[in-house]
Amino acid sequence: MKALLIKGGRLFDPASRVDAVGDLLIQGDRIAAVGSVERVGEEQVIEAAGLFVLPGLMDIHVHLREPGQEHKETIASGTRAAAAGGFALVACEPNTSPPRDTAARVREVLEIAARRAAVRVLPKCAITRGQQGEKVTDFAALRAAGAVAASDDGFAVADAGVMREAMAAAKRVRLPLTVHVDGPEMVERDIGLAAELDWRVHFSHVSLAEEVELIAGARDRGLRVSGEATPHHLSLCAEEAPEGDANFRVNPPLRSARDRAALRQGLADGVISVIASDHAPHSAEDKAQPYDQARPGVIGLETTVGVIWGELIRSGLVALETVVKATTSGPAEVLGIEAPALREGAMGDVALVDPECDWVVDPEQFQSKARNCPFAGRKLRGKAVATIVGGRVVMREDEIMELGAAA
Ligand code: NCD
Repeated sequence: MKALLIKGGRLFDPASRVDAVGDLLIQGDRIAAVGSVERVGEEQVIEAAGLFVLPGLMDIHVHLREPGQEHKETIASGTRAAAAGGFALVACEPNTSPPRDTAARVREVLEIAARRAAVRVLPKCAITRGQQGEKVTDFAALRAAGAVAASDDGFAVADAGVMREAMAAAKRVRLPLTVHVDGPEMVERDIGLAAELDWRVHFSHVSLAEEVELIAGARDRGLRVSGEATPHHLSLCAEEAPEGDANFRVNPPLRSARDRAALRQGLADGVISVIASDHAPHSAEDKAQPYDQARPGVIGLETTVGVIWGELIRSGLVALETVVKATTSGPAEVLGIEAPALREGAMGDVALVDPECDWVVDPEQFQSKARNCPFAGRKLRGKAVATIVGGRVVMREDEIMELGAAA
């Protein structure tokens, strides 16, 4: 593989305290030099003047639907969508059919990803067998097979006894839990368990002001809890959503403008340390139902950068530094994995973002198989224009270059 030289971009990695115009050289799958790099010969060169050069973005809350619902999304199509959106890595939820509750099913995802994925794929496993909320899965076996976190996303683990058992088991094998938030009561309960058992808990798709407050309070007490918010909950609200449009039906539902403001403040304050799309592809048939019967979920991989750049950063609501951390070092910390970084020796995962690119969201152009996007027709400014995974360019100006990049 040729070395890759990214010339003259704005290198921006707040976790490594990097903010300077310069060059980046990737040799093999690692970053070889950061700063001023001369061309020496046969490198592939990307001219990046006017672009942000960021650590490869990570989205740790993605539904890939394989196995079982490949008509909605596959590991191949979902990771192409990730590459198109600037994401070098996704962690995928276990609510497939059947749910990912055995080591064999974790391995199956890694095997398919090694052959067909455009970006890195890290599978999560279910907290309970069949996601039924009753019997805790075998975390030791699941972790050994490659699961990076446990989640029953789509469902809350309603029984506190089962959740206590799950947290104790997760602690024994040091497996992160990313829990499906379903109201402040559940957040309060799981903060209590995190305190009692002295283990970490990460709250997925936080959407209510009360939930943000509870997580902030727990962090103030020194508990290892973290929060995650989606681009749709950070940018949309119930009052502004068109009535009866199933593409705005999502779980948790869009909340009030007051909740949205609290969520943004939580992000600015570091209470919410992760932005994740909760990319939830559904078929046109699933959405063409009376509103209450339409399947909840929206896709997000291909709009996250435009939405957070255009709606959050540019409006002055949240600092650039904050959203970059929330899509790079923040999620890596939750999973306890190596963070992408613009540093010599770091993995060669990089995203290039054009902050001035004006574009109109057209779901028909998406790499995702699904079209259930609440941002359709919206004018956004800011777009991922290249995605590099382990030194390979997997997306350049909307074109997906290579598959099978990495597992
Ligand atoms: C998710 C899905 O479709 O898998 N949908 C969603 O609205 N977020 C699961 C879920 O959390 O209900």
